[in-house]
Amino acid sequence: MNCELTKEQVVGYVQQYGSPLYIFHGEEFRKNYLDLLNTMRAIYPKYNIAYSYKTNYTPKIISLVKELGGLAEVVSEMEYTLAKRVGYESKDIVYNGPVKGNALFEHLAEDGVANIDSLDELDTVIEFAASHPSLKIKLAFRVNIDIEQGFISRFGVDAYEEESKDAEIDKAFELVRKEKNIEVVGLHCHIGRSRSIDAWKNRVRIMFKLIDRYFDKTPEFIDLGSGMNSVMEPALACQFGGHIPTFAEYADVVATAMNEKYGSLPVEEQPALYTEPGTTLISGCMSFIGSVKTIKNVKGKSYVTFDCCGGNMGDICHLKQLPISVFHRGGEIKKVEDAIFVGYTCLEHDHIYEGFSGELAVGDLVQFRNVGSYSNVFKPPFILPNCAMIQIDGDGTPSLMKRAETIDDLFHTYVF
Ligand SMILES: Cc1ncc(COP(=O)(O)O)c(C=O)c1O
Repeated sequence: MNCELTKEQVVGYVQQYGSPLYIFHGEEFRKNYLDLLNTMRAIYPKYNIAYSYKTNYTPKIISLVKELGGLAEVVSEMEYTLAKRVGYESKDIVYNGPVKGNALFEHLAEDGVANIDSLDELDTVIEFAASHPSLKIKLAFRVNIDIEQGFISRFGVDAYEEESKDAEIDKAFELVRKEKNIEVVGLHCHIGRSRSIDAWKNRVRIMFKLIDRYFDKTPEFIDLGSGMNSVMEPALACQFGGHIPTFAEYADVVATAMNEKYGSLPVEEQPALYTEPGTTLISGCMSFIGSVKTIKNVKGKSYVTFDCCGGNMGDICHLKQLPISVFHRGGEIKKVEDAIFVGYTCLEHDHIYEGFSGELAVGDLVQFRNVGSYSNVFKPPFILPNCAMIQIDGDGTPSLMKRAETIDDLFHTYVF
C-alpha cells in the first residue's frame, strides 16, 4: 500500500480544497479490498465481505463497496437507512448491534437476516413474528464466546465451547424452536481487540462446535465478524510489536477450515462465509493533511500547533506515531527536538504526534497516514466543524467526497 503523496499534490489539493483535508486513496482501497476478497475466495469461494459501516460510512466509500459486490454491515437504524439510500436491499444487509431500532422490523419483513444480540431483543422479534404470521422470519445469533481475548465482551448471547448450564444461547434456540415462522439460519461472532492468528483459530473452532451443537442442518451463513490486522506501512507496523499477520495467513486458518468442513458439499448447500472488515480495509487507505500554525517553546519543550485536532484523525493518533511526511512551503525554518504536535482544541491531551525532531516552519503541510477508521465518523462538533474530504484515484486527480462543514450545518438543530 502506498499512500505517500508528492509536495506538488499536497500543495495543489490544499490550494483547491483548503486545509485541513481528508484524502481517500481510492485505488489503494480497491486493491486492498480485492486482495482480501480474492485471498479468501481462492480457498473458500463462498466468502464475501460485509463492510463495517461504523468504521467509515462515507457515502462514496460504501457505494464503492457496493460496486465491488460487498455486503453492508450496519449496527443502527441510521446505518441501515444509509445502506438503503445507496441502493442495498435487505437481503444484502448484515444487521448487527445491541440496539437496532425499529428499522429491524422493516428489515425482517423484507427478507433480511438480523444477528440477535440478547434474549430481550429476541423477545421483540418473537412478538413481531406472532403478529405477522404470514411472514417467514430469518435470524441469526451473535454469540458471546471466549477466544482467550482476556476480557469479557458485552456483546452477543452467552455461549460456551463446552455445554454449560449458564449458556443463554440454549434458551434462545429453545424459544425459536417453539415459533412456526422463525428460523435460525446463521451464526455470528465478533470479538474486538484480538487480531492474532490464534484468536482466529479459536473463533473458528468454537463456532464450529456451536454449529454442530445447535443446528439440525447446515446454516446458510457463518459470520466471523472482523479483527484482522490491516496492511500497514513498516513505520507503523513495527509499533505493534511482533508479527502482523497477512490476509493470506488469516485465510489459511479461516477459509481452509471452512473448506475442510463444508467443501465436499454441493456449492448450493455450503454456508456462505462472511467477515466484517472495517479497520482491516479502510485504515491504511485514508490520509489527512494539516498545516502548521505555530511553533513554540514552553519550559524547554517544543509544541507545534496545527489547524486540525486528534478528533479529525481518531484515537490512532493518540495511541501510535502515525506515518507522516512534512512539506515545507517557504516559511522561516526552525529546528525542533522531540516536539509534540498538538491540535487547535483547548484540551491539554490533544497530542496528534509525539517525538518529532527535524526542521519545520509555520505554513508547512504535514500528511498523516493511516487515518481511515473511526476518524471522520468520530469527529465531534467540538470547537470547529469538520473539514472537506477528497478522493484521489490512479493519476492523482481529486474529486470531492464531502465538503467542509459550516457553522450552519452544526447549529441548525439548536433553537436560537
Ligand atoms: C460487529 C463488528 N463487526 C465488524 C467490526 C470491524 O472490525 P475491524 O475494524 O477489526 O475490521 C466491528 C468493530 O468494532 C464490530 O463491532
